[in-house]
Amino acid sequence: MEKLDIALLGLGVMGQNLALNMDRNGWKVGVWNRHTFEPFDRLAEFITNKAKGTGILGFGELDSLMSQLKTPRVIFLMVKAGDPVDEIIDNLLPLLEKGDIIIDGGNSYFKDTERRVRDLAEHNISFVGCGVSGGEEGALNGASIMPGGDYKAWPVIKPILKSIAAKAEDGTPCCDWVGPGGAGHYVKMVHNGIEYGDMQLIAEVYYAIKHLLDYDNGQIAEIFQEWNSGRLKSYLLEITTKILRHKDYSGHYVLDLILDTSGQKGTGKWSATNALEMDTPLDIITSAVFARNLASNKELRSVMHNHYNLNEHTPVYDGKDLISILESSLYAARLVGYAQGFSLMHVASEEHRWNLDYSSIALIWRAGCIIRSSFLNEIASVYKESPFIQNLLLDDDFNRAIKSALPQWKKGVSYMLKEGFPVPVMSASLNYFLGLVTKNSNANMIQAMRDYFGAHSFERVDCPRGEFFHENWLDTENDS
Ligand code: 6PG
Repeated sequence: MEKLDIALLGLGVMGQNLALNMDRNGWKVGVWNRHTFEPFDRLAEFITNKAKGTGILGFGELDSLMSQLKTPRVIFLMVKAGDPVDEIIDNLLPLLEKGDIIIDGGNSYFKDTERRVRDLAEHNISFVGCGVSGGEEGALNGASIMPGGDYKAWPVIKPILKSIAAKAEDGTPCCDWVGPGGAGHYVKMVHNGIEYGDMQLIAEVYYAIKHLLDYDNGQIAEIFQEWNSGRLKSYLLEITTKILRHKDYSGHYVLDLILDTSGQKGTGKWSATNALEMDTPLDIITSAVFARNLASNKELRSVMHNHYNLNEHTPVYDGKDLISILESSLYAARLVGYAQGFSLMHVASEEHRWNLDYSSIALIWRAGCIIRSSFLNEIASVYKESPFIQNLLLDDDFNRAIKSALPQWKKGVSYMLKEGFPVPVMSASLNYFLGLVTKNSNANMIQAMRDYFGAHSFERVDCPRGEFFHENWLDTENDS
């Protein structure tokens, strides 16, 4: 039998679709699934249905699959992040040889990936933590792929991964080597964080249009559809339009039937936690995570609603004016969300010495992934021209765009707050931006209080940086 190019382990929908994508691109694929008979025989089901007529081969035992692979063996894991990845690696190790490659395509925590890269290197096995974005559709027809880890693996896996990646408009595959250690999964984590922020922003704007203008879902869809043909063009806006229009068999908008509690798997929280660990502001992503936390407690919100019994009203603002205000607000807030995500990667790259190439990351995100949007070409050019730019918002074009959106962005946030609608992410983005452009901030007061109660000392405006002073605050002789 002709040897196989790659083994795909884990036949959830993503795994199945990736296997089909590899097969369609001419690779000989062998597949295996862990829970063969729970709740049904997923392997047999896949082989006899979706994989029927393809060259994909199913294996019940890992050892027989490993013995059929070309060397170095390439094994692509598409299993649940966490312990299942370590369990499979433990089972694989006795079956592998020096130089073999394991790729983890799940949403694994980057610190786990760092550990696995290190541990497997001791066995001379190359480990690659590979971000894969694009959901089921991307897995089948072209995903955005972010591999990182042991670079020795790259020449071997590059043709396979590039072939199954989405292609940008200029035909370039949305896949490139990201960096060593956990860099690939880190970049995917930040991608997901930006996704959280963007989704929450869209949700806030949808809610504002619905309540401030009293529009129905079809009317809101028309607005979003129009926006999606301009500077806000993005996959998330495109699907929002489709979601808004979708009706069930009885003619009801399905969106209106969905309970307002949101779930999450953890990548947004990891981004927020990591930003805190690295002392880097990440207001937009963090507020989006908190918004989901608050939304998930429907019971408490119902109790509070009854307890406070605030007046609810649906003011009708001037439609045209408000829509333009919200478009500018969404544009500016979204741009700031991307800028924060890239800033976080910048700090992490320095900390871990990953040497991330931000232009290349923006290019990888141009197609296939969930946050694909028209911004990304512009972001890629900014980083290509100025790879060491400290913050995306320092770019001249973005500066002009934000400056012209700012008056409307402020209006948008204040309208919504005035009417009592929570806009945690829209306001977080504006607050962050205003803080960022404030040369003389209120932190002098923070330092004074810290020094007053804890003698924590402070620097002075009239002395060089790095000199610290303590004031005797209890000496009030000269006070006014
Ligand atoms: C992607 C998605 C994908 C997944 C998220 C959902 O890039 O294809 O981001 O990774 O849908 O993990 O995350 P939550 O369940 O946390 O919203």
